[in-house]
Amino acid sequence: MTTKYGSFPGARPRRLRTTPAMRRLVAETRLHPADLILPAFVREGVGEPVPVGSMPGVVQHTLDSLRKAAVEALEAGVGGIMLYGVPEESKKDALGTAGTDPDGILQVALRQVRAEVGDELIIMSDLCLDEFTDHGHCGVLDDRGRVDNDATLERYAEMAQVQADAGAHVVGPSGMMDGQVGVVRDALDQTDHEDVAILAYTVKYSSAFYGPFREAVASSLRGDRKTYQQDAPNSREALRELALDLQEGADLVMVKPAGPYLDIVAKVAAEVDVPLAAYQISGEYAMIEAAAERGWIEREKAILETLTGIKRAGANLILTYWATEVARGL
Ligand code: PBG
Repeated sequence: MTTKYGSFPGARPRRLRTTPAMRRLVAETRLHPADLILPAFVREGVGEPVPVGSMPGVVQHTLDSLRKAAVEALEAGVGGIMLYGVPEESKKDALGTAGTDPDGILQVALRQVRAEVGDELIIMSDLCLDEFTDHGHCGVLDDRGRVDNDATLERYAEMAQVQADAGAHVVGPSGMMDGQVGVVRDALDQTDHEDVAILAYTVKYSSAFYGPFREAVASSLRGDRKTYQQDAPNSREALRELALDLQEGADLVMVKPAGPYLDIVAKVAAEVDVPLAAYQISGEYAMIEAAAERGWIEREKAILETLTGIKRAGANLILTYWATEVARGL
């Protein structure tokens, strides 16, 4: 076969694979520490960090250890940190009140991390009710037990304000309510937070790979989120979600999970004109750690290969629990 580049034996693609230096030179995709965002959990009422069993190496932080983790991320060159609050069990209720309490754990954590790292590290907060509700859903329920989209939006508006007041540079609405980005934008604009950006969880699939996260946030969820998160077989609706979020004012958009949805990352990347993030979620992390623990795969290589794949698919930013470790190694 002749191509416009000539044919074998003149054409030998292997020439560009001969040495590490040659491969480095021609690499089309490069990971950079600043592209990485570290998701971190902070738990109320514990004296020591609590390991998350299904995510070896990940802990539920105390406020102290969270501040330290933020500084370590900053020193490693990581671009941002995404905070999740884990309230005391007794503070969970049907409305997720602790999520909008200015003294709730997430807000306290935001204030402390902001005081610690200032504007050097981008501080993001998960804007969702599931960590704070006793039923574990991302929104409030109607009298038949269904997630009430529009009533939830009112809660998100309040959450946006308290998180921004507490020092979030970026809020991340992750609940997949219709209209959430627009409502959050309005709430921020009306409370003097025009500069606070929105990282929209635009394309978020209902996924079995969130399992370890449920342990990490001590989730109370029974059942699933299939009435509000996207369904795995579908890809066209990703573009619809994207169009809506951009129209509503999303500054950055995200596809989540990353690994099982790289086709969606590529599809959104081809359309989008704002920065695109992808979230390497808890289950993706757990699989690699578990296989590596058994000696079945080479841990560091596998980590870099997955991150490279996510970047190659078109993501600009990657949320990964390995952010600090990987940033140090780059
Ligand atoms: C919702 C939220 C979830 C994750 C991030 N934000 C859980 C869910 O939607 O069920 C999952 C992240 C992960 O699995 O690493 N607040």
